[in-house]
Amino acid sequence: MVTLMGWVNSFRDHGSVLFVHLRDREGITQVIFDENHNLELLTRGKQARAEYVLAVTGKCVLRDEKNYNPNMATGEVEIIAEELKVLNDCQTPPFEIDNCKASEELRLKYRYLDLRRPEMQSNFRLRHQLALAARRVLDEEGFYEIETPILTKSTPEGARDYLVPSRTSPGKFFALPQSPQLFKQLLMIAGYERYFQIARCFRDEDLRADRQMEFTQIDLEMSFVQPDDVFNVIEPLICEFFKVVGIEPPARPFPRMSYKEAMNRYGSDKPDLRFGLEFVDLSAQFEGGAFTVFAEAVKKGGVVKGIVVPGAAQWSRKHFDEILELAKRYGAPGLAYVQVLEGESKSSLAKFLGTDGINALIKTAGAKAGDAILMIGGKWDVVCTSLGAVRLEVSRRENLIDENEYRLLWVVDFPMFEYHDDDKRWYAMHHPFTSPIDEDLDKLEGGDLGSVRAKAYDLVFNGNELGGGSIRIHRSDVQAKVFKALGLTEEEAREKFGFFLDALSYGTPPHGGIALGLDRIVMLFAKAKSLREVIAFPKVASGSDLMTDSPSAVTPEQLAELKIKTLV
Ligand code: AMO
Repeated sequence: MVTLMGWVNSFRDHGSVLFVHLRDREGITQVIFDENHNLELLTRGKQARAEYVLAVTGKCVLRDEKNYNPNMATGEVEIIAEELKVLNDCQTPPFEIDNCKASEELRLKYRYLDLRRPEMQSNFRLRHQLALAARRVLDEEGFYEIETPILTKSTPEGARDYLVPSRTSPGKFFALPQSPQLFKQLLMIAGYERYFQIARCFRDEDLRADRQMEFTQIDLEMSFVQPDDVFNVIEPLICEFFKVVGIEPPARPFPRMSYKEAMNRYGSDKPDLRFGLEFVDLSAQFEGGAFTVFAEAVKKGGVVKGIVVPGAAQWSRKHFDEILELAKRYGAPGLAYVQVLEGESKSSLAKFLGTDGINALIKTAGAKAGDAILMIGGKWDVVCTSLGAVRLEVSRRENLIDENEYRLLWVVDFPMFEYHDDDKRWYAMHHPFTSPIDEDLDKLEGGDLGSVRAKAYDLVFNGNELGGGSIRIHRSDVQAKVFKALGLTEEEAREKFGFFLDALSYGTPPHGGIALGLDRIVMLFAKAKSLREVIAFPKVASGSDLMTDSPSAVTPEQLAELKIKTLV
């Protein structure tokens, strides 16, 4: 005899026999109520409806072979009910749990029902297993798990902070941490040598499929290390994740590529290496030539780059126009193309380059009949970024991605600073505690800030940024120079990070670390479409939680206590 407790997933009433599919966290089992066996029980069984909570006791028997259900893990057995307790009834659910076709909005409003779906339960089992594997691996590597505060001072990860008013210090605010960055560095100064935390982070930024305002990092920091030491912890950890999901782990060491090379070849600092469409540099072909748009771009120090798309010679005009529109959204001034055909090729550039010029271009690009060459000319960064977006779009349209391939990559040697045209100032590309590479230290003062490289690295997985980290600055004099380069006066730096600058001067060991996005890791391994599928109670794009209906108004008394007046 066995007793199963769970929810009615579905039922089929055949009059004298009732089949109930009972669902629990582990899966679904068929239960049979049979008139010949127990008529009274059959009558009671028939009162059960979808999502009723039952406890069924009965005999587990092998089904006749012809009744095997290969779609169910328990498809070879069934339970012949002997006893039934209805533990609870259930209102008619707003959508079917089994075979759910509801909108995401409705699913999120009734998230506790949505989370009952086997697909979701499998995602959260995976999330648990991956977090557990991380804890196990990091423990074996000598890391301590240490919690850091949630109510804290603003940390500079580049997004807006969530602020929490203080009742005891009216007019003052805590910030929720964008990451534990400064605290983990303080733990290194405190001599803990290896720290990790499965840390909740908060960033007020626009949400996307791979971005939530509240998310989780596997965050770690190590003392006395070089980037290779960090990679040697992270690579086995990632390989362990592959083992958890039963996929052959990737070969180690993971390949590395500089930021510059990634931009030059793929137009992205997180290139998806599951397909080619690598950029070819065509600047020399156009330099001083008759196609003045590209010739001028090269003359001004820019570039012309192209990708060769197999099969695209047959694309319609509309198709090329759509790709052009996309390139323009990323700042490209235009997009030229050559349709490579047997015999004569077609291109709007033919009138400038002549047949010989077009043939030479085809040869340099390495295109063959049936291909099209798509080209963008202009400033280096604009060309790279817009052609990178085109490359991704083409890979989707032409189905070039093998969903069963897994490509990992370290992108290294990031620029330390990036210049924002809108407010005409330099920003730290990672964060201001990242160490510049030793050869570039001199350029911090008076040199070209754009050419300073950082000891920063990102881990890229199939075109997604899975993690980012760096070796940190451990000397106060270098930290002061970086703040200065970022336009922070000494007073401003002291006001924002005085406690940290003080700490740096008390015997800071060289240290570095990384944070991996746990939600993104689960999303990628679960092959889920968005982070919302792997976060139990996520927010929607507008930043609200549809189930609790938050954010929500608070009482005037609560505001008065905090000495806060709202303007709306
Ligand atoms: P970074 O800001 O690169 O680095 O974040 C590390 C990783 O966290 C994930 N991530 C996010 N996931 C979901 N939603 C978001 N809004 C979001 N933002 C980031 C990404 C990302 O790669 N303190 C540094 C780490 C360090 O230097 O050690 C930091 O937070 O997967």
